[in-house]
Amino acid sequence: MNTQTRPAPKSVAQEHEPAQPVRPAPLFGPMNRPLQDLRGLRIWLVGASSGIGAELARQALAAGARVALSARRADALEEVAAGHKEAFIAPLDVLCRDAWRDQHARIVQALGGVDLLVFCVAKYRPERSWEVQEEEAEHTLRTNLASVYSALGAALPEMLARGSGGIALVASVAGYVGLPGASVYGPGKAALINLAEILYSDLRPRGLNVYLVNPGFVKTDLTDLNDFPMPALQTPQQAAQAIWRGIVEGRFEIHFPLRFTFWLKLLRLLPFRLRFMLFQRFLLK
Ligand SMILES: NC(=O)c1ccc[n+]([C@@H]2O[C@H](COP(=O)([O-])OP(=O)(O)OC[C@H]3O[C@@H](n4cnc5c(N)ncnc54)[C@H](OP(=O)(O)O)[C@@H]3O)[C@@H](O)[C@H]2O)c1
Repeated sequence: MNTQTRPAPKSVAQEHEPAQPVRPAPLFGPMNRPLQDLRGLRIWLVGASSGIGAELARQALAAGARVALSARRADALEEVAAGHKEAFIAPLDVLCRDAWRDQHARIVQALGGVDLLVFCVAKYRPERSWEVQEEEAEHTLRTNLASVYSALGAALPEMLARGSGGIALVASVAGYVGLPGASVYGPGKAALINLAEILYSDLRPRGLNVYLVNPGFVKTDLTDLNDFPMPALQTPQQAAQAIWRGIVEGRFEIHFPLRFTFWLKLLRLLPFRLRFMLFQRFLLK
């Protein structure tokens, strides 16, 4: 009988363990590596066919980045990319695992690699807890949350092997606290926030940048379903500017507009009893 135990195969991260891990961020200053600008950056933008993602793609292309645009609607991606020779169309349904790997391979072949993956995908509909439909809820959570693991599976090995690159997850302030009406969307976004924190701890010491993007209300197809007044509503242009500014400055959490996110962050600090009292008083009819 062979008593010798074979060593477990090394993961990509173990194989490429840096000799000198990147030092933890100082108490003050940027938590990620700041960039000069976006020129030449190879960006994979998933969710680029409309709203915030489309505007992120337009602004990055205008700033001289090389952008691979993904989403299901190829015609909408073509429109966003129109006139930019540095744009690469990579249609993708985030629920299809094989498509992630196939498109990643195409993008690496076309651009030579990915310096930044931006996950800017979501499905949303306002619904109170008694309105939730099981199948629809599962589909939303697979789209908004579970598919991120396919994104990581596709993009991380190459970034870890190089010891550079970045992942930006677009979550939402709806993930800060349990807001009535966001019965499925909110928990998915809260989990994305949690995941971004874990990714930062895991990946920053290996030289990668991790960004957590928490927008307030932005006027897009997604929020057009809301039938309530949306305070501090921003345009997709304003949102994309804030996101690129945060990434260039090397911030970890990029949240905006401050006059709105400040109050939500404060709400998160309140004891549950007080929070629920405020919801009853101001939010619920
Ligand atoms: N608007 C806001 O107020 C707001 C606030 C906070 C956070 N956010 C977040 O910002 C991100 C962008 O939202 P948005 O407001 O710009 O909404 P949007 O215009 O509806 O954009 C959603 C994007 O997700 C893509 N998508 C949806 N399902 C997909 C799938 N199965 N496979 C591939 N792509 C898929 C859509 O493309 P296809 O339909 O072509 O596939 C589209 O490009 C989302 O993560 C959202 O949660 C938005």
